[in-house]
Amino acid sequence: MEHLSRDVAIIGAGVTGLTAATRLRAAGRSVIVLEARDRVGGRLWTDHIDGQLFELGGQWVSPDQTALLETLDELGLDTYSRYRDGESVYIGPGGTPVRFTGDIFPASEHTQAELVRLIALLDELVAATDAAAPWAQQHAAEFDRISFRSWLEQQSDDAEARENISLFIADAMLTKPSHSFSLLQALLMAVSAGSFSNLVDADFILDKRVVGGLQQVPLRLAEQLDDADLRLGHPVRTIAWSEAGATVHTDDLEVEARHVIVAVPPNLHSRIDYAPPLPRLRQQLWQHQSLGLVIKVHATYDTPFWRADGLSGTAFSPYQLVHEAYDNSNHGETRGTLVGFVSDEKADRMLALPPAERQQAILESLAAYYGPKALEPVVYYESDWAAEEWTQGAYAASFDLGGLTRYGALQLEPVGPIRFGSSDVAALGYQHVDGAIRVGRRLADEILS
Ligand code: FDA
Repeated sequence: MEHLSRDVAIIGAGVTGLTAATRLRAAGRSVIVLEARDRVGGRLWTDHIDGQLFELGGQWVSPDQTALLETLDELGLDTYSRYRDGESVYIGPGGTPVRFTGDIFPASEHTQAELVRLIALLDELVAATDAAAPWAQQHAAEFDRISFRSWLEQQSDDAEARENISLFIADAMLTKPSHSFSLLQALLMAVSAGSFSNLVDADFILDKRVVGGLQQVPLRLAEQLDDADLRLGHPVRTIAWSEAGATVHTDDLEVEARHVIVAVPPNLHSRIDYAPPLPRLRQQLWQHQSLGLVIKVHATYDTPFWRADGLSGTAFSPYQLVHEAYDNSNHGETRGTLVGFVSDEKADRMLALPPAERQQAILESLAAYYGPKALEPVVYYESDWAAEEWTQGAYAASFDLGGLTRYGALQLEPVGPIRFGSSDVAALGYQHVDGAIRVGRRLADEILS
């Protein structure tokens, strides 16, 4: 057993942990980052599958994500725009693909008017919500006890409009069915991205990518640490703590530290043993936050054939297995890649199938948008984060009904020398890499002050 001593022990080498570590190091504090996996980056993972580079985890950057944009700049990383020339495709309840431009789907006049009205209504509620304290919203208690789905049913009798509004928050962001989270949780999701309108605007929310992949952010942050200060393959098992400090245990390392940052998603907090146990409400809190479920599907073709057909690659439908898909061709490549997403209960159904049947069903859904050429990729891959022991879902954590008002403020509180944080508890940038950077900075600054 190796024994070490540091000012701060940081658990998790995702963007949150590495941001905190580099900031503390720059301020002269000694740190160690303990990471369970044999790589850094957590939910950021740029890898080659059959020779093709894929972003298996997070990848997009939007213009409001200023903390991420600053970091990219500091690390000398370049961005490029997502391909978006041409028409998008929408498939309504009738199953026919319809081409369109702009944000509002080509539905009936009534449905389009309802979409515009609901977006404006949500923008108003979002403007009255503080991302840093949604539980302080004037109607927080009321908004946290109604599911997003029930609220939409109260607001509109147009099922297609409701399904589409639901898509932006449920399928596309929280990756949970809209009956399983509250209106308040939906407002937090939207306000963390600036507005509900921003979520609807794919050109805003999925604006840019990083040349070479977004995992370079944690990789380059990690390069700023000494080898002795970053230990891969070191799952933290126990934190023994008192008000004076803590001892963090992995299988073959013990670190004494004045402060501890647990920079792992909240669903994994309880995989660590705490001695003494954490206060009762903390033990309650982590039972009310869970990760969503989404399969990120990558399909690469010899050429981006949809472009020649006048399509941007952007496609949406609340009625399709793949509820959204985009041109995800890498910078400078002649091959074309589509990325699609299969979320929540649709993902449950798909994961119950044998892999070949699942692949066929997913490719048929892509073909519904782009035509039969989509059935024959040269490389196909499904990112399955629910199968990853050190994540267990995607993209991030959200509260069950009532959880945000009951426990939201508590999640930001330290316990003795231990602070908890990840993108899952961010205000601006919630669920995103931008939020991970903001939380990492905040936790480091709290310790420094
Ligand atoms: P993260 O989970 O990355 O890091 C936690 C680390 O802790 C992990 O490395 C884990 O192995 C480690 N760990 C856990 N338990 C441990 C233990 N007991 N001991 C030691 N280590 C432990 N965001 C975005 O901005 N744009 C996007 O396009 C997307 N898209 C997207 C797609 C997919 C498929 C996913 C899964 C996620 C995204 N995201 C995203 C979200 C984004 O990737 C995510 O919010 C951040 O990367 C989270 O960074 P954190 O450091 O907070 O947690």
